[in-house]
Amino acid sequence: MQQLPDNSFDIAIADPPYNVSKGNKWSWDSSANVPGFGGNWTKFMAQWDDMSLGQYMDFSIAWISQLKRIIKPTGSIWVHGTYHNIGLVNFVLQMLEVEIINEVIWYKRNSFPNLSGRRLTASHETILWAHTGSSKSRKYNFNYEKSKEMTFPGDMMKLEGKQMRTVWDIPNNKLKSELEHGKHPTQKPLRVSKRILEISAKSNDKVLIPFAGSGTECIAAMELGLEFLAYENDPEYFELAQRRLNSHQPILNF
Ligand SMILES: C[S@@+](CC[C@H](N)C(=O)[O-])C[C@H]1O[C@@H](n2cnc3c(N)ncnc32)[C@H](O)[C@@H]1O
Repeated sequence: MQQLPDNSFDIAIADPPYNVSKGNKWSWDSSANVPGFGGNWTKFMAQWDDMSLGQYMDFSIAWISQLKRIIKPTGSIWVHGTYHNIGLVNFVLQMLEVEIINEVIWYKRNSFPNLSGRRLTASHETILWAHTGSSKSRKYNFNYEKSKEMTFPGDMMKLEGKQMRTVWDIPNNKLKSELEHGKHPTQKPLRVSKRILEISAKSNDKVLIPFAGSGTECIAAMELGLEFLAYENDPEYFELAQRRLNSHQPILNF
């Protein structure tokens, strides 16, 4: 990302590691363990998702600083998270003077029950919508009229002709076509990324995807006819995303 020119992309959708694969070992610098913050989110136990809080802070400052530089003031930055990381991401955005536009609650009505019976069933994730412009003259794009007209099957929170709220009722299940090339442990449903782009992108926008995983956000951009650039560290997921993208035909319906 350091090689990309300033103001060269319009939208970023960042689905970073949430830093939950810690086996209940939470600490600022890895020297002491603070138990009890993991719940049953620890199931991925992936190396890319396990940092001390200090490392996670440095990591978040690094990629959010790059997005601040690369994303145009007329565009948007979207960041996914849960309570594990989103408070820290929110703090870093504010620290770097990137204004948050909305906090969206993605309500997952079909979430798995909590097997231990010791916690409430986690049934939502958070998505922050931010922009890189000044808070004095906000220039980010919001397809307000289009968002009002949008409806989604089964989403009783969004009625046609009504303003879109900050709670999105989108089941976490993926279509067969989203899984046919392999699975990623934190794969997002395509519907979430498409909604993000449909409300904030313009035709010909360029989309930056810092953490591609299985390529969901890439497919969403492709389906809307938007150019994109994505990064993925893990060769296995990189190949999965490539298989998905190679078999996908752009629909160009934006
Ligand atoms: C939460 S997942 C993204 C999942 C994606 N939204 C999807 O639907 O498949 C985060 C991804 O970021 C990748 N990753 C972690 N650190 C990275 C880095 N520094 N650069 C690029 N990719 C990275 C991980 O390998 C992982 O696949």
